[in-house]
Amino acid sequence: MARLTLDHIAKSYGSNEVLRNITLSVGDAEFVSILGPSGSGKSTIFQLIGGLYTPDAGTISLDGSVLNGSRGHISYMPQSPALFPWRTVLQNVRLSAEVAGIKPDEEQMKELIRSAGLAGYEHAYPDELSGGMKQRVSFIRSLNAPQQIICLDEPFSALDEFTRLEMQQWLLSIWETNRKSILFITHNIDEALFLSDRIIVLSDKPAAVKKELTVPFARPRTEDLLLSGPFLQLKREIYSELRG
Ligand SMILES: Nc1ncnc2c1ncn2[C@@H]1O[C@H](COP(=O)(O)OP(=O)(O)O)[C@@H](O)[C@H]1O
Ligand SMILES: [Mg+2]
Repeated sequence: MARLTLDHIAKSYGSNEVLRNITLSVGDAEFVSILGPSGSGKSTIFQLIGGLYTPDAGTISLDGSVLNGSRGHISYMPQSPALFPWRTVLQNVRLSAEVAGIKPDEEQMKELIRSAGLAGYEHAYPDELSGGMKQRVSFIRSLNAPQQIICLDEPFSALDEFTRLEMQQWLLSIWETNRKSILFITHNIDEALFLSDRIIVLSDKPAAVKKELTVPFARPRTEDLLLSGPFLQLKREIYSELRG
């Protein structure tokens, strides 16, 4: 069970007011995206959830316990893969369990590595991997962590369009078999619509929640969804919301 709640969160850096009023929640095994323009404070939300900063106002809670300023409760995948270059793929994946002080399940790790299409690369070092492969290692490391909520900060924004779509499909297939709660940051409307159960649309800085919507498309989702009428209709609605 995992339910993460942000209730009326505000945060400024000195005189720079970044978040004005952020209220959102992520339910058990739910995939929620935060969609907002660059500089709107999306990464700041993750830094608050991760306890790197404390909100100026409001409450962050996990299953009813207040988290404000406390660390180690969520698994976090940053924008760049952040693998340790001196560790192999397997050793990098093992890290999340080590940090949490639990004994890693070697079989589960190997299975995750296989499911990421990295069989045979268990003992390879990060500089032998492509960008997409590093992202996959970084993601399965988050999945292998004991925390029930994973925060992903624009993990695919540096990838080209085709690799990105492949990675999105891969992420969904893995997530459908390892249903953890995911909070996903993106500035890409298609990506949010393709992946999520729910989307939280942010305004420009100082960010407030502009709109929240439930994505109606059935799972598993396939590529043809991206060009379907209902998908494009919702995309238009969100686009005008972000514009207006
Ligand atoms: N550690 C920090 N110290 C001071 N200002 C920061 C810090 N992190 C982010 N900011 C400022 O907060 C605003 C929002 O940044 P950020 O949360 O990274 O937005 P996003 O992820 O949506 O692009 C920007 O104006 C940025 O300069
Ligand atoms: Mg950011």
